[in-house]
Amino acid sequence: MNQEARQRAWRLLEESVVTYRGQPVGTVAAHDPETEALNYDQVFTRDFAISAFAFLLDGRPEIVRHFLTTAVRLQSHERQLDCFKPGEGLIPASFKVTGDGVDERLTGDFGEAAIARVAPVDSGFWWLLTLQAYVRVTGDQAFRVDPSVQEAIRLVLDLSMTSRFDMFPTMLVPDGSFMIDRRMGVYGYPIDIQAQFFAALCAAADLLDADEPANARYREALNERLPHLAHHVRTYYWLDLERLNQIYRYGMEEYGPGAVNKFNIHPDAIPDWLMDWLPETGGYLLGNVGPGRLDYRYFAQGNLLACAAGLATEAQTAALMQLIAQRYDDLIGQVPLKLCFPALEGQDWRLLTGCDPKNRPWSYHNGGNWPVLLWLLALVGLRTGADELVERALSDAERRLVQDDWPEYYDGRRGRLVGQQARRRQTWSAAGYLVASQLLERPERIELLHLGRTVEGASCAAPV
Ligand code: GLC
Repeated sequence: MNQEARQRAWRLLEESVVTYRGQPVGTVAAHDPETEALNYDQVFTRDFAISAFAFLLDGRPEIVRHFLTTAVRLQSHERQLDCFKPGEGLIPASFKVTGDGVDERLTGDFGEAAIARVAPVDSGFWWLLTLQAYVRVTGDQAFRVDPSVQEAIRLVLDLSMTSRFDMFPTMLVPDGSFMIDRRMGVYGYPIDIQAQFFAALCAAADLLDADEPANARYREALNERLPHLAHHVRTYYWLDLERLNQIYRYGMEEYGPGAVNKFNIHPDAIPDWLMDWLPETGGYLLGNVGPGRLDYRYFAQGNLLACAAGLATEAQTAALMQLIAQRYDDLIGQVPLKLCFPALEGQDWRLLTGCDPKNRPWSYHNGGNWPVLLWLLALVGLRTGADELVERALSDAERRLVQDDWPEYYDGRRGRLVGQQARRRQTWSAAGYLVASQLLERPERIELLHLGRTVEGASCAAPV
């Protein structure tokens, strides 16, 4: 392992720490002196989760606890029908500290100021996963059962579990409401959100105080929802050659409970690239499943998180690792790893991204490579015995990350170029690398970051 890379990554992480009234409360997204900060000088909830994991594995929980309470303080608390205010229970996408001394103030952004004005569906989920890791590592049960923390968990659940216009156990979301935070055709039921939703619901089931009467109906709702969600994703999102064959020969317009082609998927919509690309062995979870729509793109975060949290079955996890090994150049590349494959091009790019130049083919979210995802690759890879693959990815990454000063993302089919609009000194690129290298160095730490639920070593969903 490259000690110099590790030291530099730690230095970057430490320099990114934000304090509020003398306490460390989070890390800025990036501090690139050469690029306009926009909102990269704020503490993003999703970005900080990865910093939190790195600090926790290193035995430094203080900043994580302060972050968790800060987010609770900022969580939106008013029940309202005002369409310009965040819904009750929403955790901010990011926050900043302004003023100085005793005049320091905290301001959350719930998407009102973000580019394209997207509300963060994922913030509550990452807050829950950060809390779960904090409690697992420190054993701080007093913090877990604190009434304000328990109330915050219930509010996140109210916001994400109340049924609205849904017919499925998955969660319906607008485009760009998570890490992919601008238009990319990821509205509906994207796998990234379903995997986070599942992992976060498992965390909530773990964290809710069983002795608190107000929690009873939440615990019941979780026990009912989790197996349905697992069954739905394992059955309808999974794609391998056998399933592709089934879809290819689907009948159409089937009505009522006996329908095989439940979502009325047209075989003609199977994209050409997939026919030859999908290997004989191996498979992955589709990008999206909804009415008349399968999104055949592969999304790394959703797939790996589904495996890490036990949403995918053991067999599916093994098959995903086989696919990644067989399509290494496409899915890992020269600087790991690809966020989404393949890129949207031509008319698809025009229509689905709205001609977004930052998301042109093989750049940024649209087929760019994101080193932050290394922690998830390590978590799943090391658990399934793919140690060599993880080592290779990490050593490729560390060489370039040091040389290029920790870019946010890389561009190109194989991820060889520093992203055209990428920030340098991007905190979660360093944090993702650090978590991965901490896991590789001491694999027993994997248990500390075990997502899903701590039920006798098994994942939380009932076998389906
Ligand atoms: C970019 C990413 C988003 C991240 C933010 C701050 O907008 O798409 O996921 O949270 O930068 O790093």
